[in-house]
Amino acid sequence: MLLSGLAAALAPRMVLAAPESHSITARAVPRTLPGNAGPSTLWLYNEKYPLIFRAKRNEPFTAVFHNELREHSTIHWHGVRVPYGMDGVPYMPHDPVKPGDSFTYQFSPPDPGTFFFHPHCNTVEALGRGLAGVLIVEDPRDQGLFDLEHVLVLKDWRSRPDGSFGDFLTDAGAARAGTFGDLRTVNGEVMPTLTVPPGARVRLRILNVDSTRIPMLNLRGAANPVVIATDGNACDPFALNGWRLGPAMRADVAFIAPTKSGAEIVLEDVFSTRPRPLAKLVTAGDGLRSTKAVLRLPAAELPMPDLKAATTLDIQLLAGSLDPALESWAKQNGVSVDELCLTQKVFWSINRQTWPGAAHDRKPPPLFELKSGRSYVAELFNGTPHQHPMHLHGHTFRVLSSSERDLPPHWADTVLVRPKERIRIGFVAGQPGDWMFHCHIIEHQETGMMSYLRVA
Ligand code: C2O
Ligand code: CU
Repeated sequence: MLLSGLAAALAPRMVLAAPESHSITARAVPRTLPGNAGPSTLWLYNEKYPLIFRAKRNEPFTAVFHNELREHSTIHWHGVRVPYGMDGVPYMPHDPVKPGDSFTYQFSPPDPGTFFFHPHCNTVEALGRGLAGVLIVEDPRDQGLFDLEHVLVLKDWRSRPDGSFGDFLTDAGAARAGTFGDLRTVNGEVMPTLTVPPGARVRLRILNVDSTRIPMLNLRGAANPVVIATDGNACDPFALNGWRLGPAMRADVAFIAPTKSGAEIVLEDVFSTRPRPLAKLVTAGDGLRSTKAVLRLPAAELPMPDLKAATTLDIQLLAGSLDPALESWAKQNGVSVDELCLTQKVFWSINRQTWPGAAHDRKPPPLFELKSGRSYVAELFNGTPHQHPMHLHGHTFRVLSSSERDLPPHWADTVLVRPKERIRIGFVAGQPGDWMFHCHIIEHQETGMMSYLRVA
């Protein structure tokens, strides 16, 4: 009696102390994109672009997802080492969330950093219409390291001036570098201007949520900007200097703002002959004097692969082909396999296996079967003429080396593999499950460059 009375007295306080639960509603919303005459039908989370959530490392994060789209959907927490049941890939393992239905995602993010979330169904159109959000996982160890931070979400839109969208997946794009949008935005704006106090220690969390474009980032006007985190994970700082940010990749960049007021710093893409300005930072307000600036984050705490004991996995990124039986039939009958591939929209493969379309429910065999807790080194070779940002779900891997360039070793969940390049990544197989491994140029993913690793 006494105990239950006590429990009742405590209950309201316990409810108050319960971690906050977020609500995420996906919905079609008419919005006029900058410079357009007419509205576009965007698909947004909570009618915001971009929606930004903050979570705390190792503390429960709950988000109730309501699907108000006309098609089924899911939320994939890109780069977060979530339990397998929370990974948000349809049928792997949870069913897609039907229109009008809800699903509760709950996990305690183990790693701090800059992450994002997006659907894993009809991804090319969903991302194309703006369905992506930012998840920042805060680390108490970062306290006081920076005076301020800005989140910069890069995305292009394939909208026409009247607001209508062009095709999100084109054969010409899917078979090559992807279909590009012409309207380039940061946080949904063309060349936004942000302010920073003079002399401030600035942290930029830059995310590329575009499905296609691979900018080379520079900060004109900033003295020695450094990358302090890759895909959210702390790294030994290295010069920004044109760092390529493929689709789904993130870079946290730090620098000290100029000490005089009115100074301009421009984030630009230097991929083309003429640098393309993307956003502007202007110094304004009271000056800060950071005498002891240390532009680096506390070290990442991730499972370090044991390279000596690691098993090697050979992974080849190749053009698509059909299954061997069909291929030999085609040969005997004098039919060009390329033609067959085209009609079936298979342009790409991983180790000659393909998984075309959004057919998550028809699973091919896994690319590899791994043992949880064991170390692996995957050698990714790109035998195609295009770059591929390759993403592994549920794991953060160590990018070890490249055959073609000096690559600072760093942690990532998505790694850009250039043509003819061989990149070695190392990781410890995580929780049991079927973890997707695919190119994040979504048109490549949806035309065959998609597979999964089975961890048992
Ligand atoms: Cu961000 Cu499987 O994707
Ligand atoms: Cu690709």
